[in-house]
Amino acid sequence: MVYVVLGTQWGDEGKAKVIDYFSHQFDYVVRFQGGANAGHTVHVGEKKFVFHLIPSGILHEKTQVVIGNGVVLDPVCLLEEMESISREVSFEGRLWISNKAHLVLPYHKWLDAAKEKKAKNPIGTTLRGIGPAYADKVERLGIRLGDLFLSEGDLTSRLEKAYEVKAFLLQKYYGMDVPMTIEEILREILQYREKLAPYVTDTERLLQKAAAERRNILFEGAQGTLLDVDFGTYPFVTSSNTVAPYALVGSGLGLVDVANVVGITKAYCTRVGEGPFPTELKDSTGEFLRKQGGEYGSTTGRPRRCGWFDVVITRYAIGVNGVSEIFLTKLDVLDGLDEIKVAVGYEIERNGQRERLDYPPQSWEELEQCKPIYVTLPGWKGKTAGVKRYFQLPSEAQHYIEFLEMQLGRKISYISVGQDRTDVIER
Ligand code: GDP
Ligand code: IMO
Ligand code: MG
Repeated sequence: MVYVVLGTQWGDEGKAKVIDYFSHQFDYVVRFQGGANAGHTVHVGEKKFVFHLIPSGILHEKTQVVIGNGVVLDPVCLLEEMESISREVSFEGRLWISNKAHLVLPYHKWLDAAKEKKAKNPIGTTLRGIGPAYADKVERLGIRLGDLFLSEGDLTSRLEKAYEVKAFLLQKYYGMDVPMTIEEILREILQYREKLAPYVTDTERLLQKAAAERRNILFEGAQGTLLDVDFGTYPFVTSSNTVAPYALVGSGLGLVDVANVVGITKAYCTRVGEGPFPTELKDSTGEFLRKQGGEYGSTTGRPRRCGWFDVVITRYAIGVNGVSEIFLTKLDVLDGLDEIKVAVGYEIERNGQRERLDYPPQSWEELEQCKPIYVTLPGWKGKTAGVKRYFQLPSEAQHYIEFLEMQLGRKISYISVGQDRTDVIER
């Protein structure tokens, strides 16, 4: 069975928790896009793990994890991450990295920072070099993990081609110093070669074989649908395709049957970085959600912008991903609110006329002008936190869930009511 599990909002929906929850049923957990911009948190008892590149399935001994070709790989970050959990988990024979994954190199991070600094409307990136690394990939200037095993001469000539343009841009356009010479970069990346060698392989072949043997494969999405480079709030997006169909491109599995696409949807919305966010709350309720939900970036520590649930964008995400069922997370964060709002449509003024939209407009400028049309639902007095069964939830919480299901046209099959692995209600 092949599952794709991904976020239907702007990221940080609780994907890692869900993937950890499902992982024991899967032989492989695969990252297929994004890079160290992801911040995936798993709580197991008192322990907290934050993954940026290693798939969240690593915590289950019997599960193997794969970093696919669609990921951009920062070797420094990966090695640090491996080091940080090396006492808890083993990697030998369990971690596989595609030789076709593009590397994030120091100059990608310099460019990311320089661009953000100079931009009139910065994106608010994670500064992990993601955009410049994907740009090199499509510009055919990228260096892939497998290239580290080329002769030093061949590797140097590739590096020169990529580096020269960056150095020129940084110095002449961005007016910055270039912190490292090409020789220093070469020396640095050669250090990773030996450490990573045991894990590098043709991961597409590994996964094709696994699929042929009917092994269970779970794809772990990073970021969220509204950050997808095609379907997100462009240009306030990340530089990869985050949607479910990309799982196959980013892993080389071919057009196999995907049994299930699970959409991870937070019971409210958050966004980190810039860009339109129609239901954003800049008041004390937004503050409440941030505090209750611990909404601070796992990668950058930035406070996350918070707002009400948005049916318009979630329905859109269900469409572009082919979501078949929903895993609703962080319901417990709404405990204690008197009332809860849900945006069921937008209103926008076009040519002096007010129009109602139930589908997001194409441009971010228009999305920014959209005013949510809210339905107000009652909050609940009791707690959902830690509840184990659906019927034990306060009736208003059940009503909230059923209202969302009706609006979204999908079953909410699982509800997460706390950060621990065990805080899940299955329906
Ligand atoms: P991801 O990027 O989608 O994996 O999500 P993050 O890890 O960046 O952010 C989600 C945060 O919410 C993490 O700190 C999780 O531990 C936490 N979390 C996940 N599910 C729940 C839940 O149901 N309730 C609460 N209170 N916290 C949760
Ligand atoms: P996970 O997997 C939330 C956002 C950044 C910025 C935009 C582009 O933890 O859900 P980038 O560094 O990718 O070029 O930044 O995308 N962003 C995320 N927001 N969660 C993430 O990952 C994100 N990864 C990138 O804040 O707005
Ligand atoms: Mg995150």
